[in-house]
Amino acid sequence: MNIAVMGYGVVGSGVAEVLKKNHASIVKKSMQESLELTRILDLRDFPGDENEALLTKDFKDILNDETIGIVVETMGGVHPAYEFVLDCLKAGKSVVTSNKELVAAKGNELLRVAEEKNVNFMFEASVGGGIPIIRPIISCLAANEIDEIAGILNGTTNFILTKMINDGMTFEDALKIAQELGYAERDPSADVEGKDACRKICILASLCFGKHVYPDSVYTEGITKIALADVEYAKAWGGVIKLIGRATRYGDGKISIMVSPAFIQNHSQLAGVDDVFNAILVRGDALGDVVFYGRGAGKLPTASAVVADVIDCARHTERRKFFGWEDSVEDYVVDYLDIKHPFFVRAKADKQAVAEHFGEVQYLEYEGAAADEMGFITAALTQREFDAKVAAAGLEVGSVIRVTDY
Ligand code: HSE
Repeated sequence: MNIAVMGYGVVGSGVAEVLKKNHASIVKKSMQESLELTRILDLRDFPGDENEALLTKDFKDILNDETIGIVVETMGGVHPAYEFVLDCLKAGKSVVTSNKELVAAKGNELLRVAEEKNVNFMFEASVGGGIPIIRPIISCLAANEIDEIAGILNGTTNFILTKMINDGMTFEDALKIAQELGYAERDPSADVEGKDACRKICILASLCFGKHVYPDSVYTEGITKIALADVEYAKAWGGVIKLIGRATRYGDGKISIMVSPAFIQNHSQLAGVDDVFNAILVRGDALGDVVFYGRGAGKLPTASAVVADVIDCARHTERRKFFGWEDSVEDYVVDYLDIKHPFFVRAKADKQAVAEHFGEVQYLEYEGAAADEMGFITAALTQREFDAKVAAAGLEVGSVIRVTDY
């Protein structure tokens, strides 16, 4: 059986590298007589590249090649990846993707087409880079009802926050290093504004809760407004700031889902997750909490997950692996204004106004804090209640960060 790769960037070239490096054992595990990379689609030229002879700029060279049974999509973005993937599935080819934007936007539809055509559509690498998470949710945790899933889902922002927390490095310097190391998206605003984490929590929530969650229905906040003062207040509280994607299923079948920076207590399993590492906490009714941890971005870790899916596809050419989810329904996602949690507030305020409107709060202090600012933690409030109290108390807010109990 032959394989094609669409998109010869960081991940695509990593896939080619892993397929070559571990060729013999991959073929053996695939239970195929052969498993060869025979085509690579990319609009760019790669003169002198060891795979130059495989390169094509014409998608039809892959689509019309009947010897190609598995297509790897590592182009990124929704278009034209969606059209190419759809055509491949309709042509009876299995598709493996690392493209979270595509799965978050079109996952239910592509899984349905794969089912109709009795081929596989797999996307282990789309969440958590090299961390096994999709397959464990489908297989190992199948006995559980999952009511909550939360995690550090973006390596670039976790790398930046770690550098800010541990080394006092500026946001810009840390981002530059993350880009050089190949962690960041082509447009790094997708990382730092939380969109990449949003796509990943959408995929996880769709998989765990059975209905597609579209990224535009998810309240998403990035890390661009985090100041070193917030990092210090978090330390004084006994924790750290992490960018967290989280989704919870309520008893009535609705879900709450959000991406935002959050205060995480030092004893949490998520607090010690540093640098490019990701961690995903899944709360199952039989198992309790389980945390999946590993390299969430980078060329070879991500390629590792892609190639594992390729092997799985090769082993399931006769019977596809059945999983999928329904489309969304109206009002499935709860308005973020109605989600309740404590808030950390850094503001210019007077304590009397805070006491009058917020009642009892936990004040935080650290040496070197600005004299005209205060930091405090509120009781659990909905965003709606919180916003009303901020307005009534006349706070001049510097930062607002949600506080979690993970
Ligand atoms: N830009 C992503 C990250 C790559 O930093 O996590 C992996 O999805």
